[in-house]
Amino acid sequence: MSFKEAIPLYSTEYGTAYTGDSYYLLKNLNSDSIDLVLTSPPFALQRKKEYGNKDQEEYVDWLLRFCPEIMRVLKPSGSFVLDLGGAYKKGRPVRSLYNYRILIRLCDECGFNLAEEFFWHNPSKLPSPIEWVNKRKIRVKDSVNTVWWLSKNDVPKADVKNVLVPYSERMKTLLKNPDTFYKPKKRPSGHDISGGFGKSNGGAIPSNLLQISNSESNSKYLRLCDKFNAKRHPARFPAKLPLFFINFLTDPGDVILDIFGGSNTTGEAAENLGRKWISCDLDRTYVAASAFRFFEEPIKEKHKIIYSNLLNSNNLPINLPGKHQLLLFPNNQESTIELMKNIRLT
Ligand SMILES: C[S@@+](CC[C@H](N)C(=O)[O-])C[C@H]1O[C@@H](n2cnc3c(N)ncnc32)[C@H](O)[C@@H]1O
Repeated sequence: MSFKEAIPLYSTEYGTAYTGDSYYLLKNLNSDSIDLVLTSPPFALQRKKEYGNKDQEEYVDWLLRFCPEIMRVLKPSGSFVLDLGGAYKKGRPVRSLYNYRILIRLCDECGFNLAEEFFWHNPSKLPSPIEWVNKRKIRVKDSVNTVWWLSKNDVPKADVKNVLVPYSERMKTLLKNPDTFYKPKKRPSGHDISGGFGKSNGGAIPSNLLQISNSESNSKYLRLCDKFNAKRHPARFPAKLPLFFINFLTDPGDVILDIFGGSNTTGEAAENLGRKWISCDLDRTYVAASAFRFFEEPIKEKHKIIYSNLLNSNNLPINLPGKHQLLLFPNNQESTIELMKNIRLT
């Protein structure tokens, strides 16, 4: 199924969720307007668990189609963070290189820089593929996604001070009494281990290995999906992943874009951090349910009406109560209805 346009479905204080093909959303965005594109594409290939070279090439080409537009809409100081899960080749215990091919083509063909590669370790990931891991026991559990942090110029906006992590127990002891641990001196390497090393900076510098469990079980989104009998999105980010990159790479008031928004974890993280956001997903039912993230509990009759309108109404976008909207397309009733003709419920 393909939609020709993206239309705004709802808006909150800081953002707007669209439904439709993000390619067209990107085409409508101004150049140099976005601070961070943070996204995780559909795992069409991973769902099959194993795939042939042709599928793989087509998938890489499909994803690459969005990237010149991403480059165009990013501000010069902006970043593009792309989460990609790993996969096996068809019928073979051999890994696909598709995530590395995408990275190389993003740099070679679209002109992105690899600012840094991140690895997201999800300890709660289930073992797969069953054939190699569970049955034949010749491969270990694959629980790490590659997350490419790409940039337009050499020094994208970034501040590690916003994402410091707690000090280790050893470091905490050292900070309490630095003199008993280190005497300022030169290392054989010539590095000067000065007394400054024993000074607290409020936290330790994180590494590029992000250990975040994807085991959310009682969020408002999930509770309301059950209450409204809506399908839970099957491939959601854990909230900490967008929170980390938004804190690291943007300031309050900056604009974040997720072109494969799904359940809009990115939008909720941005809203909570006071950043503007734009999210888009092809599937209107996912976008409608993602509004649960912004419903104020307790749930009342008005929420049922809002949800029903999110699924069926042509009178869009819907303002979630008590919020103003950041709309990028003109809120023109006629054009919205025209656009709605292209939107089908899945
Ligand atoms: C891996 S999911 C994203 C999940 C999201 N990060 C979250 O936390 O819920 C990828 C999403 O991309 C959507 N999608 C696929 N093709 C698209 C397109 N051309 N434009 C917009 N969304 C698309 C799918 O419907 C799916 O929901």
